Amino acid sequence: MPKRGNNSKIRRFAAHRGPALTFDDVLLVPKYSDVRTRRDVDTHARLTTKIELGIPIVSANMDVVTEASMAIAMARCGGIGIIHRFITAEEEAREIEKVKRSESLMIENPLTLGPDSKISDAKKVLDEYGIGGIVIIGEGRKLLGMLTTRDIMLQDNPATKVREVMTPRKRLVTAPPNVSLNDAYKLLKDNKVEKLPLVDKSDRLTGLITSSDLLKRIQFPNASKDKKGRLLVGAAIGVKGDYMDRAKKLVDAGADVLVVDIAHGHSSNAIDALKAVKKAWDVQVIVGNVATPEGTRDLMKAGADAVKIGVGSGSICVTRIVTGFGVPQLTAIMESAIVAEDYGVPIIADGGIRTPGDIVKALAAGASTVMIGGLLAGTDESPGPVVLKNGRKYKLTRGMASLTATLDRRRSEGAADAIREKEVVEGVLEGRTPEGVEGLADYKGKTEEVVRDLIGGVRSGMSYCGVRSLKDLQKNAEFIRITSAGFKESMPHDIHQM
Ligand code: XMP
Repeated sequence: MPKRGNNSKIRRFAAHRGPALTFDDVLLVPKYSDVRTRRDVDTHARLTTKIELGIPIVSANMDVVTEASMAIAMARCGGIGIIHRFITAEEEAREIEKVKRSESLMIENPLTLGPDSKISDAKKVLDEYGIGGIVIIGEGRKLLGMLTTRDIMLQDNPATKVREVMTPRKRLVTAPPNVSLNDAYKLLKDNKVEKLPLVDKSDRLTGLITSSDLLKRIQFPNASKDKKGRLLVGAAIGVKGDYMDRAKKLVDAGADVLVVDIAHGHSSNAIDALKAVKKAWDVQVIVGNVATPEGTRDLMKAGADAVKIGVGSGSICVTRIVTGFGVPQLTAIMESAIVAEDYGVPIIADGGIRTPGDIVKALAAGASTVMIGGLLAGTDESPGPVVLKNGRKYKLTRGMASLTATLDRRRSEGAADAIREKEVVEGVLEGRTPEGVEGLADYKGKTEEVVRDLIGGVRSGMSYCGVRSLKDLQKNAEFIRITSAGFKESMPHDIHQM
């Protein structure tokens, strides 16, 4: 355990020990390397005590960053997304379900409809879950047919019954419940079909295997998956009100990890919520945010499976300006990492990542993974539309404690009466000054491509350190502090950049 912090006088005047540092204050010293190609390095990382990822990247639980499509993209890349909590518990659980239904070895509980449903209902389900077909069943789950987007594409009467346009049972290719993946692949291929319903001896539906799921296994070999071959996903909860009801819905929907999300995580509120969730369910729980070894220790002592580090470091944060509190991110990570090592619990560096080099520094300083908001906020998979300004494309981004985010939250809770609305306009919400800002994030295209660039930098960084694993990066890394002249030298200089 680090000694500082026990003596309150030393703590108050800790500035005497030299300035706290962040990413731009340091560089990593190149080391002898026998890594011949960047492909040789292994980017596997511990997210929590029990969950491992293929890459050390987590998308932030922000309403401008992570809903189902971001979580799906992140998991396919080998990372994970954490669904934000600024929607109703039902909506958040539905986002989890969308991720869980997006692919699996075998869908145990496929979406179904009855034969007398209207095709307008079918269209709604297909759109909402982004899937290509629904199994049609009758009484006792007897298989009756299959309805795909192709069957209804040109149907213009929404009241048409599903039974009139579906592919009927006699024309469906099926397999028994225990079919092997190889046999399923062969059946799909030989019969040129996309969906293979699994039925028992009484022709009752027991599952579904799709060609797109099998293809995705080939397309995304490093995807983060659970035991059933479904993508991993996390979900955030708060610490007040009905957070336990929300947690139950999320766990029931299949969330692999919960994030107890509170701005000041070194607090009795966070610890009580963590303990309550851990007592109620056997689920992995990340807690944050804190910025000190004491905060990290107290959360780990209380049972956290990972702790998020970062107070005021995010791209949209003004906590440090508004409250005067925070710890520059590199120091926060380094000091918390000492405690984390003692407890054998991973820490997540959350906020302030702007470049692949920042990720390498955060990992080298002791973080197991990094959480990213702003860098992913302008991607195709982040929620919200693309906006055009002066001929350039952007997406809206904002802090979760910003004025508009708080206002939207209040509105969705039905609390925006006239008086509150006025308070909001004046910038004061129940005495709380906003601690986040709104802005425009550059449009960045596909998440997959952004993540590929970030991981390319991490792989390269590991080869500069002469290591093949993130664990060895932490062991081998040597930081040096730099001056503003050194920083200037690090940037492109003396050219007219294209
Ligand atoms: P980046 O730099 O990746 O940081 O955009 C994302 C992290 O910022 C935190 N966050 C906030 N912090 N006020 C804050 O002080 C806010 O309004 C706010 N919104 C998000 C959060 O930890 C996120 O993961």
